[in-house]
This record gives sequence, structure tokens and C-alpha cells, in this order.
Amino acid sequence: MDQLPSYLTISDQPSEVLKSLIEKWKPDLVAILVDENTKNSCLPKLTIENPLVVEIKSGEENKNLITCENIWSALTEHKFTRKSLLVNLGGGVIGDMGGFVASTFKRGIKFVNIPTTLLSQVDASIGGKLGVDFNHLKNHIGLFKDPDHVIVNPDFLETLNTREFKSGFGEVIKHALIHDKPQWEILRASTFENQNWQELIPKSIAIKNAVVSEDPTENGIRKILNFGHTIGHAIESHFLLTPDKLLHGEAIAVGMIVEGHLSLQKGWLTEAEFSEISDFIVSSFTLPNSLPDMNSIADYLLQDKKNDSRGINFSLLNGIGKCEFDVSVSPEMIKKSLTAYS
Ligand SMILES: NC(=O)c1ccc[n+]([C@@H]2O[C@H](COP(=O)([O-])OP(=O)(O)OC[C@H]3O[C@@H](n4cnc5c(N)ncnc54)[C@H](O)[C@@H]3O)[C@@H](O)[C@H]2O)c1
Ligand SMILES: [Zn+2]
Repeated sequence: MDQLPSYLTISDQPSEVLKSLIEKWKPDLVAILVDENTKNSCLPKLTIENPLVVEIKSGEENKNLITCENIWSALTEHKFTRKSLLVNLGGGVIGDMGGFVASTFKRGIKFVNIPTTLLSQVDASIGGKLGVDFNHLKNHIGLFKDPDHVIVNPDFLETLNTREFKSGFGEVIKHALIHDKPQWEILRASTFENQNWQELIPKSIAIKNAVVSEDPTENGIRKILNFGHTIGHAIESHFLLTPDKLLHGEAIAVGMIVEGHLSLQKGWLTEAEFSEISDFIVSSFTLPNSLPDMNSIADYLLQDKKNDSRGINFSLLNGIGKCEFDVSVSPEMIKKSLTAYS
């Protein structure tokens, strides 16, 4: 059985869990980092005595060092010390950036992540990657460090809009496809609307935890979490420059179909398995009908962090529930799979 991380509690009483951590650690001061959306929708559900509320503007475009400076300044102004605590209440942007700010403030103070999007509950809060974007390069500055605690409450998702909710569903699908065939069967037995989130979320967290525990700093097996992401990131970057921006999970959904087709070409998935995957993804998301051609995304593919001197590297399914990493694929095969999607 896959386990939850030791630092993570799933609870519909997040205030109680947080209070017991505060009781145990006895921080001199507590700050809660929010954006305007989590301030309105999530902060009222957290009853903590006299925290300093630090508010930043939502959005990936604010996940940068300027926002970090504002947070460091607020903590400094309010006389936070090495004994203080930062609580990050929000999606992956708040968790990644708040964790980075806490880990570097006075060489590191304790921080708790309370993820409030599906994506941050099943993905960003596990595995210790913290950081911010720099010069338009995603997550360019950062470090590996597990939060001192993570509190997951699926009830926070009630106020999330459907598009953001589905974006996280992309990662839930990915976790099942790369590591857990029974979980895939459960997923595809329902539609997105009818999934049992109370069961799916812990299971999806446990899958990610199993993978990152084996390889915390991504030298090997952790790379399987990049399934769908080589094509996905390239497509995400491409659409960023058009009026039809894609959310991360939507780009990854496209990426999983195209990279599934690469597995089909390699003979690692049967036609039936490939159709099963692409039919479920197509029915779950609103995706672009056609994709940019190879020429338009080649530059993005060549920049991928997973590449080495041999060429463009992928993490590809080798059957449903299994994934291989460092698979080198020729440009011709990529072209064929991009064309097959359209
Ligand atoms: N550290 C990791 O391993 C890891 C993994 C995956 C993604 N990430 C990072 O996570 C970020 C994306 O995270 P995200 O998808 O959660 O985006 P996000 O943090 O931008 O949140 C999406 C939107 O939802 C709003 N929101 C959050 N919770 C809400 C709620 N309960 N009700 C209403 N609105 C709410 C936010 O204000 C924001 O507008 C990216 O920066 C990505 O790099 C990190
Ligand atoms: Zn992702």
C-alpha cells in the first residue's frame, strides 16, 4: 500500500490540526500568506488567534522575487524571528513561493502548507520543490525542502472554479497512468463530475509520495512524473503567446495524449490501451482541436530540462500503470504523434 508522507495530514478540521502544531512548536509569531481569492474563500474557514495576514496578488505572473521581497519585508516589519511560523494558504503559487520565502528568511523558519487547489493538494505540496520564476524561466530559483507540515482538506475545493479544478485532474490522471492501473480503472469508471474526491485525493498523494520517496532529488525514477510534460510544457509555452492560454493541466492532458501516441508507435501501448487513454482525456477536458506543428514547438522541446546530449528525452508509458524514463525519441516520431492528435 502506498503511504501518505509523514508530514501530511488529511482532515476536514484544518484549524484544529494547525492549532495542535502551534501548541507543539510554540512559535512566537504566526503569519498566513494568502492571495485575494484564498483570502475571501479559504481564510474565513481557518480560525487562528491573531495571525499576521500577508496578502499577495494571485497568478503565476506574481510568482517572482519582487513578491518574495514584499513578503520578506512584511515579516521583517512585524519582527518575525527564527522561532516564527509561516502558513501558506493557497494553490501551488502560494505553496511554492511561501515555502521558498520561509526557507530563506533568517536561514529558514518553519512553514505549513495548506493547499487549496486540487493541483496543489495532489502534486505541488508533495516532493519538496520550492521556488519562484526568474526572467520568465519557470521555477528557475529555488530549492528542495519538505514543508514542516501539510494539511489537506478537500472541502477547500468547493469554491474553486471548474476549469482550475480540472487542471488538477490532469495530474490525478497522470499519477494513475504512470504507477497504478487499479486507480486508472476507478477513474475511468466515472466522469469528472462523479469522481469521489475524498478517496481519490489521498490515493493520488500516496502515488506521488511513493515515487518521490524513492528519488527525492530527481536523478532517476522521479522523472516518470514528467509523463505528458515534455510535449505539455512546449504546448503550454506556445499557447502562452496566443489569446487561447491553456492551464497547466490542460496542456498536460494534450501532452499525455501525444506522448501516449509515442508509446503506441514504440509498441509499448496497444491500440486499445491508447484509445482508452485518449478517449477518457478528451471526454474530461475542453482541449484545442489542433496543435502547432513541430517547427513551432521545436525550440521549446529543445529547451526541456530532461534533455541530454543524445536528444529529446521523454518519460513514456510502457503499458498502463508503468512508465519508463530517459527515453530518447526521434523528431520524426514526435512529428507523427503531433499530426495524429490533430
Ligand atoms: N512544487 C511542485 O512540485 C509543483 C508541482 C506542480 C505545480 N507546481 C506549481 O504550482 C503552480 C500552479 O498551482 P495551482 O494550479 O494551484 O495555481 P494557483 O496557485 O495559481 O491557483 C489557481 C487559482 O485559484 C485560486 N484559488 C486557489 N484556491 C482557491 C479556492 N479554494 N477557491 C477559489 N479560488 C482559489 C488562486 O487564487 C488562483 O487564482 C505553478 O506555479 C506550478 O509551477 C509546483
Ligand atoms: Zn504538472
